[in-house]
Amino acid sequence: MLEGRRIVLGVTGGIAAYKAIELSRRLVLAGAHVVPVMTEAAMNMVGPTTMTALGSEPVKTSLWADSHPIPHTHLGQTADLIVVCPATARILSDYRTGRSADLLSATLIATEAPVVVCPAMHTEMWNHPAVQDNIAALQQRGVIVVPPEEGPLAGGDIGAGRLASPESIFDVIAETLDGEMASAATKDTGALTGRTVLVTAGGTREAIDPVRFIGNRSSGKQGHALADVAAARGAQVTLVTTVARPSGPGVEQVSVTTASEMLDAVMSRAEASDVVIMAAAVADFRPKNTAEQKLKKADGVPSIELERTEDILATLGVQRRAGQVIVGFAAETNDMLTNAASKLARKGADLLVANNVALPQVGFAHDTNAVTILDADGGTFDVSLTSKVAIAEAVLDAVEKRLPPIESGST
Ligand code: CTP
Repeated sequence: MLEGRRIVLGVTGGIAAYKAIELSRRLVLAGAHVVPVMTEAAMNMVGPTTMTALGSEPVKTSLWADSHPIPHTHLGQTADLIVVCPATARILSDYRTGRSADLLSATLIATEAPVVVCPAMHTEMWNHPAVQDNIAALQQRGVIVVPPEEGPLAGGDIGAGRLASPESIFDVIAETLDGEMASAATKDTGALTGRTVLVTAGGTREAIDPVRFIGNRSSGKQGHALADVAAARGAQVTLVTTVARPSGPGVEQVSVTTASEMLDAVMSRAEASDVVIMAAAVADFRPKNTAEQKLKKADGVPSIELERTEDILATLGVQRRAGQVIVGFAAETNDMLTNAASKLARKGADLLVANNVALPQVGFAHDTNAVTILDADGGTFDVSLTSKVAIAEAVLDAVEKRLPPIESGST
């Protein structure tokens, strides 16, 4: 996905600037062309020579010292994506207000490319209303924020504000560019214009106590790709998700954690949806009781009584409305086609997307997938190993074939 993509990597003066070196290396290894841009403060944290050595071209540091006469517009216009890593409180403020004080802040407002910002700062700064306001305003404008994590900070403090890991920032960049490609590839079709599509994504978490849960390996990538592609095809999309991943334009996200929250979020919207796609890995069992306080090992090995969760897909199958297309997923490790065919019938879905997660590069957490799409009419269709965006395209092609024509409204 990153091959040949031009990424401007803005580095500002936070102690986490050293992690930008690792991000740059990862991006270059994945085939991206990385243009490093450093603020003056960043150069107190890491050396420009290092950024140059691990980027794809010499680091840029000034509005005035570049061979290009108008460096900020050149950088902004030619970028496929700009990432600011780390993003200090200062750059967030400049970006929000449009104050073009240096090459990086000028580049940020001279671009139409997607922008990913990765804030890192002390907990007090991160929690300050000024910073939170700036973050909210930037998000509202479509800027993708990779939130900081909790953990040890410079100076021995512990709290929220630690830069997200280079791996997760890399994933957000890859996914954002992936989504852009999906939009570019499909935006003219408009095949789902006028349709409402409800997608679920991610694995649910069922609490055992305040710190432990029963979960699964789902990353939410396939569900998020489905939502992005459906929106790119013109649908009005709601994505009920358990994971904090950015979505492309036209996708309304509803955040949930448990199977029961997902059930409520889905069922309250199902009636209004032309298409429902259950890509989430929903827990089949949950602890019957959640301990209010952390279980202590001194109290012995707990016996956790489980109870069944409600099957959302099966409930949708029973309560379906005429003309609605319902899609299920099946992650299998053996007898994939037999299990998938029985699941399709049992749950009353129209389409079932089956994958064998025991195969390499397939399913959970990978950027790639390979599936067989089973149709309730008996047809099957194989999609061999490809990106999750391409799988989403194939699934939505199958959905479109089953959708009845839109009735023209009476006047
Ligand atoms: N699903 C659901 N609600 C549940 C469990 C699963 O809606 N409580 C949906 C999933 O989102 C997926 C499909 O059902 O679209 C199949 O999920 P899967 O876990 O493979 O099926 P199970 O019903 O758990 O069947 P089995 O235990 O036989 O694998």
